[in-house]
Amino acid sequence: MKVGRGGNAPPFLVMDVIAAANARAATLPSDAPGIIRMEVGQPGTGAPRGAAEAAIRALQAGSPMGYTEAFGLPSLRARIARHYRDRYGAGVDAARIAVTVGASRAFPLAFLAAFDPGDRVAMAAPFYPPYANILTALGMEPVLLPCDAATRFQPTIAMLEAMDPRPQGLIVASPCNPAGTMLAADELGAIARWCHTNDVRLVSDEIYHGLTWGTVAESSAATLRDDHRRWPVVTAATLSPSAIVINSFSKYWSMTGWRIGWTVLPEDLIRPVDTLSQNMFISAPHVAQLAAEAAMDCDEELEGNVARYRRSREMLIKQLPKAGFDRIATADGAFYLWCDVGHLTNDSVAFCQRMLTEVGIAATPGVDFDRDRGHRFVRFSYCGPEARMEEAADRLTRWAR
Ligand SMILES: Cc1ncc(COP(=O)(O)O)c(C=O)c1O
Repeated sequence: MKVGRGGNAPPFLVMDVIAAANARAATLPSDAPGIIRMEVGQPGTGAPRGAAEAAIRALQAGSPMGYTEAFGLPSLRARIARHYRDRYGAGVDAARIAVTVGASRAFPLAFLAAFDPGDRVAMAAPFYPPYANILTALGMEPVLLPCDAATRFQPTIAMLEAMDPRPQGLIVASPCNPAGTMLAADELGAIARWCHTNDVRLVSDEIYHGLTWGTVAESSAATLRDDHRRWPVVTAATLSPSAIVINSFSKYWSMTGWRIGWTVLPEDLIRPVDTLSQNMFISAPHVAQLAAEAAMDCDEELEGNVARYRRSREMLIKQLPKAGFDRIATADGAFYLWCDVGHLTNDSVAFCQRMLTEVGIAATPGVDFDRDRGHRFVRFSYCGPEARMEEAADRLTRWAR
């Protein structure tokens, strides 16, 4: 019997690593030190208290929690629009904002609205695997731009100019996953202009906004010092009239399992994405939208999480070189360290398996993010509990001896 091309999409390997770490944890005696989870980009904290309380209040009030409009609750869309004013000083009309089931559901909506089967969509390698896998499932062609530390693992205008034929789309992420690196504000601006001028649809994944650590971000922070709520990053929503912006409550807002994201659409894609959403998903979960709206007023708790990530990042950048992980990409943002382990192994899958078995640390082999060069990279995620990150540094240092 025929199986459609969607069935040929490659797996998202980190899910296999998670399963291996779970299986390993299940074999350990209850008094064993346990597995330290550094394989998954899931904050160790739950939703902010105010978000959970809003959900409880709504449920206790007996709210029926029906479908919402396909683009989401008007109050949540208005709150997201206010977020753009508060955090970026940018006016974004709520009519352009569509609430989605995580950033993950925004991708197929955006790709189906903007591209046709056979269209070519470029992205830096290494990259977040579902970008390419979803495009492939939809019959579109991911085109990889091999990037390295010389360009902070980010694409450049020169790389785009060299593409022949030109792609129909470009996906960027700043900060990105897995490398944690960023484009400076002027670089993103130049890419957005180039894409608009050359009829290339820009998709900007901004899911790690709010998690930036200085360095590149500081270059754009100078003008923002007078307003502490502003984030030292720019959004592509203000840089190009044709760009699609994708974001989510999963990372900064620490709400992975609530499955709420959003997209800021250019005018020409509002109606196409609306009709696709109506037909494909109807709406994002109602109760989770109420919680997400409340989460946007939980700054104090969320900034506490950010401070913890910042401390773990600094500690690991200092300690990991003592364990031989001394080639770390400039960790400008997100909560990942992308380590070149080419001097330790030429098989990152076997290396990560050994790390899991011998020292109980789960990390993600680079092949998930870069099939050609990922055999010499490992990604550590440091958004888990701070004490566990310190324990990880100790275990790795002892392992290296
Ligand atoms: C770069 C990037 N984009 C999108 C997502 C998907 O996020 P969501 O939980 O909102 O579906 C992730 C999740 O790890 C990610 O790292």
